[in-house]
Amino acid sequence: MAKLWEGRASKAVDAAAEDFNASIRVDSRMARQDIRGSMAHAAMLGARGIIPQADADRILAGLEGILADLESGALAIDMGAEDIHTFVEGELTRRVGEAGKRLHTARSRNDQVAVDVRLYLRDEVEAVRSLLRGVIAALAGQAEAHAETVMPGYTHLQRAQPISFGHQLLAYAWMFRRDIGRLNDAAARMNESPLGAGALAGTTYPIDRCATADALGFDRPCANSLDAVSDRDFAIELAAALALVMTHVSRLAEELILWSSWEFGFIALDDAYTTGSSIMPQKKNSDMAELMRGKTGRVYGNLMALLTVMKGLPLAYNKDMQEDKEAIFDSFDTVKACLGILAPMLATMAVRPENMRRAAAQGFINATDLADYLAKKGVPFRSAYKTVGRIVADCIREGEVLETLPLARYQEYDPVFAEDLYQAIDLEVCMRTRLSEGGAAPDSVRAQIARLKEEFQL
Ligand code: ARG
Repeated sequence: MAKLWEGRASKAVDAAAEDFNASIRVDSRMARQDIRGSMAHAAMLGARGIIPQADADRILAGLEGILADLESGALAIDMGAEDIHTFVEGELTRRVGEAGKRLHTARSRNDQVAVDVRLYLRDEVEAVRSLLRGVIAALAGQAEAHAETVMPGYTHLQRAQPISFGHQLLAYAWMFRRDIGRLNDAAARMNESPLGAGALAGTTYPIDRCATADALGFDRPCANSLDAVSDRDFAIELAAALALVMTHVSRLAEELILWSSWEFGFIALDDAYTTGSSIMPQKKNSDMAELMRGKTGRVYGNLMALLTVMKGLPLAYNKDMQEDKEAIFDSFDTVKACLGILAPMLATMAVRPENMRRAAAQGFINATDLADYLAKKGVPFRSAYKTVGRIVADCIREGEVLETLPLARYQEYDPVFAEDLYQAIDLEVCMRTRLSEGGAAPDSVRAQIARLKEEFQL
């Protein structure tokens, strides 16, 4: 296919080099955005009298036709083109003739590609935002059903204190909520228009950058033409925000994997989100959750790739920057795929309260409450802590638990102990009375759900 830059060279580019140079396989997905950007540019060129209005009209009609034909499938993108910009301009000129050759007046592929990527990523952010909302809805739904389901909360993967399963799930909802905030912040900074920056220095034509920015839904034009065509920090910021999304996805995935093991037995993932083994007939494997954990690696890698591509690049555009799209597109593709499965996987998982309860009853997770019991009766907390530590150590040695150790034995450690200690260390009571704001009590869980429901209109 003809090159946009034919003229200077005395011979064709080597076939392998041409293939190496091409980006169509990656950037063809920006066809809509490329056409939208060109339409805004052409309309502005006509309005400012930079090209004849009749030509602008022909260009606009031609671009509309291309868009419609791409959408209906009547037109296929030629994968032999160098990039999507070449394809669209070539197709336009094929359709409307001479007028099409005026489209690139006062524009460069450098500002064009920067516009396309920003428009494309804007839609991708919206898609991820809505998928994250779906995950938050699934978490809130299960949390509502399990606001009172006691499970051991862990630190160091050691049973620590009683919480509800709902509280544990909501911890992830708040992480995903912050992820949405990070994506929104980055998207807001990205929303400035590079169009009109030209190759690097702006243009001598009397263009109207505010008009094109407006037409494309940007808040304003980028302030510096060099920065406009050289900047890819928006892609890096989004890649970083997506890396954090995957940090959260992978931690949740890891817990789902652990919880569905025979060792825990806290949940059973729905058969729709697990697989079997080709040799072991009894197996039910958490492949989807494991893949989410695994795919976190590529999303981190894409961030590193983008940072490294941009490091030390002189201003303004360098072809290195063509590498931005593969990385950031892959991050969005991967995150969307994970979140799309995570939400229904959470919504359909079966919870096993009996097993959580059994685990909660072992491991002395009410030891803090026993120390608090003494402290509330006037014993300094540090002394109470030591006393309970001795009780726990003796219980472990004797195969006893706090719930059944006789009162007389307790009083050997401290005469302050009375009959009401058993009420204070009841697991339900321990969980229910963690009423401090954001604590594990069911009322706190329900308050969190109400906040999330209001914010996300769940
Ligand atoms: N395919 C190129 C990219 O993705 C488009 C910009 C080309 N600009 C240039 N000066 N070669 O970066």
